[in-house]
Amino acid sequence: MRTQVGIIGAGPAGLLLSHLLHLRGISSVVLERRSRDYVERRVRAGVLEQGTVDTLVESGVGERLLREGLVHDGIELRYGGAGHRVAFEKLVPGRAITVYGQQEVVRDLIAARLAAGGDIRFEVDDVAVHSLEDAPYVTFGGERLDCDFIAGCDGFHGVSRPSVPEGVITVYEREYPFAWLGILARVAPSAEELIYARTGRGFALHSMRSPEISRFYLQVPAGQDLDEWPDERIWAELKARLETVPGFTLATGEIIEKGITPLRSFVAEPMRHGRLFLAGDAAHIVPPTGAKGLNLAVADVRVLTEALTRFYADGSAALLDDYSDICLKRVWRAQHFSWWMTTLLHTFDSDDAYGRRLQTSYLDYVTSSDAAATTLAENYVGMPYEVSP
Ligand code: FAD
Ligand code: DHB
Repeated sequence: MRTQVGIIGAGPAGLLLSHLLHLRGISSVVLERRSRDYVERRVRAGVLEQGTVDTLVESGVGERLLREGLVHDGIELRYGGAGHRVAFEKLVPGRAITVYGQQEVVRDLIAARLAAGGDIRFEVDDVAVHSLEDAPYVTFGGERLDCDFIAGCDGFHGVSRPSVPEGVITVYEREYPFAWLGILARVAPSAEELIYARTGRGFALHSMRSPEISRFYLQVPAGQDLDEWPDERIWAELKARLETVPGFTLATGEIIEKGITPLRSFVAEPMRHGRLFLAGDAAHIVPPTGAKGLNLAVADVRVLTEALTRFYADGSAALLDDYSDICLKRVWRAQHFSWWMTTLLHTFDSDDAYGRRLQTSYLDYVTSSDAAATTLAENYVGMPYEVSP
């Protein structure tokens, strides 16, 4: 079997790449380890930058997103017994975020690929990449896929990055002593906008998916087991961390999904080896506090699509050669922003009174100075793209 671009992974990165390449007349095959049902139900991100929304809408997969996505013009920072709104409409006019579940993006992309006759193979075993420097090919389940290029879109635990020979990639990383416990609950959101809450008990986030479904996250110590968090304990802790301003009551309901995610910052450089290009979580991870992971995956794929389009149009490899450098500029901006938001809002060592004072000082600054708030707002809604198609 032969295709132009072999894509490993049917997450947002792999699926969007396959879709955008198809629009440019470039063929691809997507190889995914999990079932279609599994990837369509995997609950993860929910915040789409303006540029992510524009990318999906302009490429024809934004119809349901425009109908069901919730457009937000601000977020609340809650600490010290008060809530403070970061007003995007004032600080970064014309740019907003849209709350729309990652699994809905995945569903929309799978539907679009299949409707266009796209080739996505689910539940494939033993994917391996070979001959990355000249004539690359992928083997899986006893089959062989020859291609011009391989896109490693297989997430942090995939096979692509570990297949790069030792010494080629340098890794930069930081681990955090806590994780996020995330839940989805059948209850109307208790606020119109997202609430990022910093408390002495740890961080909490109130988000949502629809007028009927809310999404919450709690900072918990690293390595905790879900068994330690029965539903009543989760609601009690969410109330303790969110009911900290006068007049706010958290509505509770049936918990329909629960998970624990470790927090990590990670970058693999360069994002390319020969004819293998890494995109999305396969190349970089951010702690979720800044809501950047999915958006970075989309930004990588935009650059890769443009680079491959130019290559197939006139043989020019210049943009392919610049792919890693272009992506890494945005990646490092998001690394810093995500680390900074995490540092600002989480409880680290409870004995570190000096660190706590610094946190409060910076929160006071962000909530009282337009200059400081604009720094947060422009990063949160997303910096402009580096390459335009
Ligand atoms: P993935 O979504 O991980 O997709 C990789 C795919 O490759 C998977 O389908 C996997 O099954 C497949 N795969 C893996 N190994 C193999 C193999 N060997 N063979 C074949 N297939 C393989 N980001 C945001 O932008 N905003 C947010 O609000 C946000 N919140 C988050 C909240 C949580 C709780 C979590 C966990 C993440 C959050 N993120 C957020 C991050 C976001 O979910 C990821 O950055 C995003 O999924 C990256 O997409 P991807 O396609 O690169 O990787
Ligand atoms: C969500 C996730 C995030 O990481 C974040 O910063 C905001 C919202 C969410 O899943 O809704």
